[in-house]
Amino acid sequence: MAHTSRIPSFRNLTVQERIDAVAAETGISPERLEGFSGDAFPVAKAEHMSENVVGVFSLPVGVATNFIVNNREVLVPMATEEASVIAAASNGARMARELGGFTTSSTGPIMQAQIQLVDVRDPAAARLRILEQRQRIMDLAALQDPKLAEVGGGVRDLIVRVVPARYGTYVLVHLVVDVRDAMGANAVNTMAEAISATIAEVGGGRALLRILTNKADLRLARARATFDAAALGGSAVVDDMLHAYALAEADPYRAATHNKGIMNGVSAVVLATGNDTRAVEAGAHSHAVNAAGLYSSLSTFEKDGNGNLSATLEMPVPVGLVGGATKVHPAAQSALAIAEVATASELAELIVAVGLAQNVAAMRVLATEGVQRGHMSLHAKTLAAAVGASAEEVPQVVAGLIEERVFRHDRAEAILSDIRRGAKA
Ligand code: MEV
Repeated sequence: MAHTSRIPSFRNLTVQERIDAVAAETGISPERLEGFSGDAFPVAKAEHMSENVVGVFSLPVGVATNFIVNNREVLVPMATEEASVIAAASNGARMARELGGFTTSSTGPIMQAQIQLVDVRDPAAARLRILEQRQRIMDLAALQDPKLAEVGGGVRDLIVRVVPARYGTYVLVHLVVDVRDAMGANAVNTMAEAISATIAEVGGGRALLRILTNKADLRLARARATFDAAALGGSAVVDDMLHAYALAEADPYRAATHNKGIMNGVSAVVLATGNDTRAVEAGAHSHAVNAAGLYSSLSTFEKDGNGNLSATLEMPVPVGLVGGATKVHPAAQSALAIAEVATASELAELIVAVGLAQNVAAMRVLATEGVQRGHMSLHAKTLAAAVGASAEEVPQVVAGLIEERVFRHDRAEAILSDIRRGAKA
């Protein structure tokens, strides 16, 4: 646990000072953060991770501040190319902090694989034949990964569904597996392939697809927090945020953007920890379809008895701590050192807390001043740096650009030379 995740002037520090501050607050040695240095992941390492490799593609990694999750102060590593995301997550966490931060829970790391049987003559009876052999098939699956049981995981269930489709009625067997600290794709895919012949024999017909489902609805993580109305800007802001939420709940066009805001936070932590962003994104969006079949908001907003905003987020978060890029990429190792999570479920819960902070922060801005003001001041900062402003000159150039409301390279250059002329005079 970090001593505190509240480091007020964090954004104004140099990169080295930020690393030192993170090390000091978490108590980890600065060497464990060396995975973030630009040269920690050379092409030679990257070459073994993918195919036809010609180089590496780097992104900024930042640390979101202010998070309290289950009474634990935590600094959160986030990798993103988008400006404002890490600042917004930190801001959301600051507003949640006033009333205790985030409370999280999860179902546990349960993944499912599907085996599709085609050409089954009697699907309803096939379903029962397979269920009669449930234990034998589960035991066969378990044989593929004896280590998993040793660490407390293993095969948990076998579910059989009958799904009528365009070219026939398919019998679908779901193998339900507790994958512990793995993301679990390899474990369940291996098992699915191993049991498919037996399933085809028992059910009749032919086994075709044997693959995990990314609709990981048995691997949910949840976060809730109460956001202080005063910190949000008052009761009228809370009411407008509820209108904004209600729109996301009712209208898929808004829901997609609302959920994209959540994924800004979620995917940044998933990526920083070397996990599979597409798996989490697929799971999230499949989960966003409500019982009525409408694509809707992943989060919920309500006003509590004290007029504060009570917000929740529940979604599938299939992430691991072992295997894949998480193990191989030095930046992922440094990110996990900062996050200080002991299990994959704990990481999943932290990720949902970040998604919720991100969502509330975005909604507050949207319900008040709009996103462009903040974006423009960040854009102005980038322009100031691009025209060669020094650390002392950047704020002056930014102020000049904001005053003019013209965000162009030539204006940044002109303002900088005015500043320099003024300084000489
Ligand atoms: C931009 O990356 C994310 C937002 O559009 C999210 C939202 O509209 O809720 C600001």
